[in-house]
Amino acid sequence: MSASSAYSALADRIRLLVLDGRLALGTRLPAERELAAQLGLSRTTISAAYAELRDSGYLESLRGSGSVARLPNRGAVPLESIAPPEFLDFSKATMPAVPAVAAAAERAAALLPSYLGESGFDPIGLRALRQGLADRFTARGLPTDADELMITVGAQHAIGLLARTLLSRGDRALVESPTYPHASEALRHNGARLVPVAVTTDEGWDEPSLEQAFQRTSPTLGYLMPDHHNPTGRSMSPELRERTAALAAAQGTTLLVDETMGELGFTDLSLDAPLTPPFAVHGRAVTIGSVGKSVWGGLRIGWIRADRELIQRVARLRYSSDLGTPILDQLVVLELLGEYDRILADRRAYLRASRDHLLARLRERLPEWTLPEPEGGLTLWINLGSPVSSQLALAARNEGLVIAAGPRFGMNGVFERFLRVPFSHPPELIDRAVDALAAAWSGVGRHPIGLGQEDLAEVV
Ligand SMILES: Cc1ncc(COP(=O)(O)O)c(C=O)c1O
Repeated sequence: MSASSAYSALADRIRLLVLDGRLALGTRLPAERELAAQLGLSRTTISAAYAELRDSGYLESLRGSGSVARLPNRGAVPLESIAPPEFLDFSKATMPAVPAVAAAAERAAALLPSYLGESGFDPIGLRALRQGLADRFTARGLPTDADELMITVGAQHAIGLLARTLLSRGDRALVESPTYPHASEALRHNGARLVPVAVTTDEGWDEPSLEQAFQRTSPTLGYLMPDHHNPTGRSMSPELRERTAALAAAQGTTLLVDETMGELGFTDLSLDAPLTPPFAVHGRAVTIGSVGKSVWGGLRIGWIRADRELIQRVARLRYSSDLGTPILDQLVVLELLGEYDRILADRRAYLRASRDHLLARLRERLPEWTLPEPEGGLTLWINLGSPVSSQLALAARNEGLVIAAGPRFGMNGVFERFLRVPFSHPPELIDRAVDALAAAWSGVGRHPIGLGQEDLAEVV
């Protein structure tokens, strides 16, 4: 390789790491001399690559503190995810309700008269439902009392309430990158400065940067999805959960663990598949959950599991925005708890069949895409091979499909090479979505960036 192609290949490689979110914005790159030694390249090559990255806006040199990763001031504009009615909406990973909902609603309506003599609202939620959920946590290996639970209007509400309760302006909050965008929005709106930690479909969590993020920034809060992470589908190993809980404890970080996808793994579809233990069996964590994915998003029932003191703090603050969760919906979920294991088994089977269906269609129509095979959750995080996700999402709109481009799941425009495609929708809708994607893809101009051989990810 000539000297000029060596430096531009290196610059391209670093640029891609930034665009894909594998190199978090603000990360300090190694000093030129150090990187030259690590990669076995000349110092001149490294200098030229860094100069090119500076010129194109991907690197900023700060006096006294080296060079840090940046994005040029043209971050991709996230697409708004409100689809007109005639469009197919794949911007959300939603599922039709499980059939048991209608009958449970009838049984709940029959129970309602015994509640009508009371005020009907309180910020903590129905005792019977809290007890039912507490028993489920206990059965999954985490002894829980009804007083350690609050019923919320879905998991999103829980995230918002906890962000308001725990954050002050300027506090750091650790988030995965990519992450569930409405959670990072809630953290930011409550004043947090986000500290991203990379998660990839191949490697999962970037452990050294997770450790660094905790130790260097002592975040007030860490928002994590250790089960079937949205959007990558990855799950943390028990060892990593253990280490993460210990890192958080050492820095005084409160972990908000979003287990909305916690029981949607589909490697074992049997009814008596072992129950997944909650993250909090490994150390102190506030757990968030909901029936939004397991049963139906329309029920809007979620929960917070935390110590009594925090539940009380959240309850006091909740009065300023809402006075409680609708009783009828809580009664429907209480009814469904009796058949929850069967419901989950059906959901897992549905999701695995849908994943296979989407993979088969994509392999047929878009063979050049790199497809992961997640073992749970609702989404594929697809590597498109070139940074054209926003272009593709725009072109898909012309084909009647609304889909969120990769940068929606990152901060400041990263993940242009990725697209999140949910497999939660019924097969006929998946077929239409893949047709729309294939048509859109054929019109998107692609300019693959040449890769160097160096595995920079190990160095930076
Ligand atoms: C990871 C994650 N957390 C929370 C939510 C919100 O859930 P709910 O519908 O219960 O508010 C979603 C919905 O997509 C999600 O993907």
